[in-house]
Amino acid sequence: MSLKVILFDAYGTLFDVNSAAEKCKDKIGERWENFSNFWRTTQLEYTWLRSLMERHKDFWTITEDSLDKSMKVFGINMKMKNELLNLYRVLSPYPEVKEVLEDLKRKNFKLAILSNGTPALLKELVVSNNLNSFFDDLFSIEEVGIYKPNAKVYDMPVNKYKVKPAEITFLSANTWDVSGGGNYGYNSVWVNRNQSVFDNLDYKPKKQINNLTQLLNLI
Ligand code: LAC
Repeated sequence: MSLKVILFDAYGTLFDVNSAAEKCKDKIGERWENFSNFWRTTQLEYTWLRSLMERHKDFWTITEDSLDKSMKVFGINMKMKNELLNLYRVLSPYPEVKEVLEDLKRKNFKLAILSNGTPALLKELVVSNNLNSFFDDLFSIEEVGIYKPNAKVYDMPVNKYKVKPAEITFLSANTWDVSGGGNYGYNSVWVNRNQSVFDNLDYKPKKQINNLTQLLNLI
């Protein structure tokens, strides 16, 4: 009998990447959301560029480097840098996450995270949000030294659980990660939280949901 593996992306899927800037919105002002989106986009671009340049730096360094640029672009007082970084370590989960994980755990699924985050960052995220006990594994790209969507990243859970890629249900809110996992062979599900448009990257997810609660109807 094959394992029933449900694999989650972390940033943007389980944890709200805008929650750090949102907690400082009074200080940042009305552009806080544009700033937060720019920070996120720059952070992701740096992961892709560093992978292509073969100049790896860990996700925490990239998060700081991209924050530094974003603060300069938006003219935000550099004194806020540490506050924003500290909040990024303990990002809030989306409201439905805990209940969904409880339900899946009761149904005996193997639950894991596959993320760009370092092992220490992922551990802190789940521990600070009391979600630690739900996960069998926190797979970090640091183990393979290259970022998503490289196939070496998606290989990790396949190798550990000795299952076929298609036996893994992979949840991500990041379209490019759904495409990456899907092209690799996962059964990728798009968590389309913001009514967005999907990519043209050779893979269309068979299923999409608006939040993780709807996952419970799919499995
Ligand atoms: C991650 C990024 C893609 O957690 O959100 O891997």
